Amino acid sequence: MKARCESVGPLVGFVLAVWLTPAASMAELNVDEAELENFVIQDCGSCHGLTMRGGLGPPLRPEDLEQLPAEAIAAIIREGVDGTAMPPWKALLSDDEMLWIGRQLKSGALVADD
Ligand code: HEC
Repeated sequence: MKARCESVGPLVGFVLAVWLTPAASMAELNVDEAELENFVIQDCGSCHGLTMRGGLGPPLRPEDLEQLPAEAIAAIIREGVDGTAMPPWKALLSDDEMLWIGRQLKSGALVADD
């Protein structure tokens, strides 16, 4: 039993390392970052606040999105939230763009200081 654990140990360690390494999940996305940042501030900001602190829509600061991985945020952006003012954006944004926005929101890069 001990020998078996030792033999899978390195593999588990490797898988964990890959899984936990931000670089691995931060594969290059094919987006125009400057254009997309403007889009988020203007279009998403019209409801969520120009500094993502909320308005008609809820605030989108990292602390508000703790429960949501970037992929889940991208899915919300893609499909919208039925029965609310949050529209689906899939006709306008690519998957890469929506995932990029999800990551930016998680990182707080778009939350401006007051
Ligand atoms: C017309 C107003 C409006 C616009 C424009 C809008 N949203 Fe929303 N959004 C909302 C509302 C309202 C909700 C809350 C829905 C609910 O009650 O669950 C929401 C919810 C969300 C959520 C889920 C937040 C959470 O904590 O569950 C995310 C993420 C989000 N919006 C991102 C975006 C992004 C990114 C954009 C721009 C691409 C955008 N929204 C544009 C109105 C808007």
